[in-house]
Amino acid sequence: MRHFLTLKDFTKEEILEIIETGLSIKKNLKSKIYNQELKNQTLAMIFEKSSTRTRVSFETGIFQLGGHALFLSNRDIHLGRGEPVKDTARVISGMCDMVMIRTFEHSKIEEFAAYSKVPVINGLTDSYHPVQLLADYMTLVEYNSHENIVAAYVGDGNNMTHSWMMLAAKLGFELRVATPKGYEVDAKILQEALDIAKESGAVIKIMNDPMEAVKGATVVTTDTWVSMGQEDEKDKRIKTFKGFMVDNAMMSLARKDAKFLHCLPAYRGLEVSEELFEKHSEIVFNEAQNRLHAQKGLMVWLDRHKAE
Ligand code: CP
Ligand code: NVA
Repeated sequence: MRHFLTLKDFTKEEILEIIETGLSIKKNLKSKIYNQELKNQTLAMIFEKSSTRTRVSFETGIFQLGGHALFLSNRDIHLGRGEPVKDTARVISGMCDMVMIRTFEHSKIEEFAAYSKVPVINGLTDSYHPVQLLADYMTLVEYNSHENIVAAYVGDGNNMTHSWMMLAAKLGFELRVATPKGYEVDAKILQEALDIAKESGAVIKIMNDPMEAVKGATVVTTDTWVSMGQEDEKDKRIKTFKGFMVDNAMMSLARKDAKFLHCLPAYRGLEVSEELFEKHSEIVFNEAQNRLHAQKGLMVWLDRHKAE
């Protein structure tokens, strides 16, 4: 049985297979051919943080596959009142067929997975957001922008950055990460990505100059400067991140046909300008919609590999 906690645990071939599965389900859906492979299955969705896209895409996704979703916020279940993670894992996985968790410490989802009898999917932790990267790469495939990627990530060294590093490391493309000083990526995760990159031929560059990162890039991406759980640091962060807003001037340094991606929610006037965001909104909202299709591919893939 496989869990989907980070892209680190998946080979390039497996990542591409998950995306292909999602794309084929999406194509069939357009022709009204419905994949009902997860008929009668239940997906438990544990949310310890807010969500729009992750909740709607997983809940809609499992429903379209013939299954059912349970939305469990930490206000509703005993996990939020101190019931041990390992007990919650054994109870829920004894009744449900798959579990998706959005939480704070990555170690919490690892502990849950260690005690779970069914596949566990990371719906975002403080360290990673791997399902978002499935949708992001799927979008690049659809826009025919997935060959010879030179990606630039501008902003906070956070869960999205770490997941971009893992995707680049696994698939073997170039990624430049520009963060303000003091907001760099996690050193341990960077080392892990660099070790994987040695085998795949990926190039991962860390810098503090966003202009240098964006120069000649084929994909430019960013994320909020204030992630969930960092609300107290908002004012300080906004001051420190000045100069890291992706706007038309910055984007003009990228390749002419460069794509802009944003996992959303987007904060205009902070990590992205209103003008730049609206100019690239078509791809960004297709990216958001692909959360549904990519995760359907993932759930079907995990179900097919349950026997392993
Ligand atoms: N991008 C993303 O995960 O969005 P939500 O926080 O709305 O789920
Ligand atoms: N880095 C952001 C991503 C939101 C989808 C957060 O963790 O809040």
